[in-house]
Amino acid sequence: MFKSFASDNNAPVHPSIIKAIEEANRGDCLGYGDDELTKKAKEKFKELFGQDIDVAFVLTGTAANVLSLSSMLKPFEAVITAKTAHINIDECGAPERFTGCKIVTLPQKCGKITPKSIEKVLVGVGDEHHVQPKVVSITQATELGCVYTKEEIKEITSFAHKNNLLVHMDGSRISNAAVSLGLDFKEFTKDAGVDVLSFGGTKNGLMIAEAVIFFNKSLTKYVKFLHKQTMQLYSKMRYVSAQFLEYLSNDLWFQNAKNANDMAELLEREIRKIDKIKIIYPVEANEVFAVLPKEAVKKVQEKSFFYVVDERKGAVRWVTSFNTTKKDIMDFVKLIKDSLKG
Ligand SMILES: Cc1ncc(COP(=O)(O)O)c(C=O)c1O
Repeated sequence: MFKSFASDNNAPVHPSIIKAIEEANRGDCLGYGDDELTKKAKEKFKELFGQDIDVAFVLTGTAANVLSLSSMLKPFEAVITAKTAHINIDECGAPERFTGCKIVTLPQKCGKITPKSIEKVLVGVGDEHHVQPKVVSITQATELGCVYTKEEIKEITSFAHKNNLLVHMDGSRISNAAVSLGLDFKEFTKDAGVDVLSFGGTKNGLMIAEAVIFFNKSLTKYVKFLHKQTMQLYSKMRYVSAQFLEYLSNDLWFQNAKNANDMAELLEREIRKIDKIKIIYPVEANEVFAVLPKEAVKKVQEKSFFYVVDERKGAVRWVTSFNTTKKDIMDFVKLIKDSLKG
């Protein structure tokens, strides 16, 4: 049986998370986040980001983005993001439906946008015939497996703030980005000027746990209402909180993301040795994008499914996870080599 490289969502839940959920499953406690575990988990986030933040736990990455954007936007305002952004192409229009806002898309490089490209769409400000630009959303690590440096983020946030815009970060793979940068979470989020962060957990070994971290306190007045209205005020919140407590207390986030990133690096190294395959983006987190002959794609997919991301180019995506092993990589590489033999 081959490992699946289709998505980090295909990996199981880390055993110590299952254990933490099991340990949380003792007796009764208050619901809707008024329990002790939730207080402790929020305290953990405050240890990482400082006391002056607000935290809301949610169940999916899409929900984290919807809650984040709902706190930042009025229905006549717009969010500016990369054309490749998950909020633009992979959330079935959930951000538009819940915020009522338009998404304005920008050209990107490996999923990244720049102040220069943002500037080009700052038009019609103050004119009631145009949507009003209000939020810039960036993804860290990007959908194409690249990582913004702290400096690149600072350039975007300072440009945004100078232009009366707020900055959201979709950190669905934030742990992979932190490991890649060798930085604490706070250094490239709050300290770099991000206003609201979708903090991912599920892709890195948790079962059902994502968080929204509000750094800009001017946005938090109505968050408790939005949390409920976006259907994320989970009644048995202790089971979400228990996951984050375990994840953040024992460096589990780091070990998991480090393994995923290391395995992506190994996969990249091995793939680069094969003449007929081209790696198309820098590998900076836990995703490898490559172009290979179409016949080989089909043959490999039969034994180990993965997604074709661009049919015309024949581009595919391989994602590594916290549980990927060196043997998984070497077996997969052999499978690819065999499929190229004809
Ligand atoms: C960059 C990014 N953001 C958000 C999400 C949304 O996560 P979910 O599928 O849990 O809604 C994903 C999931 O693939 C993602 O890759």
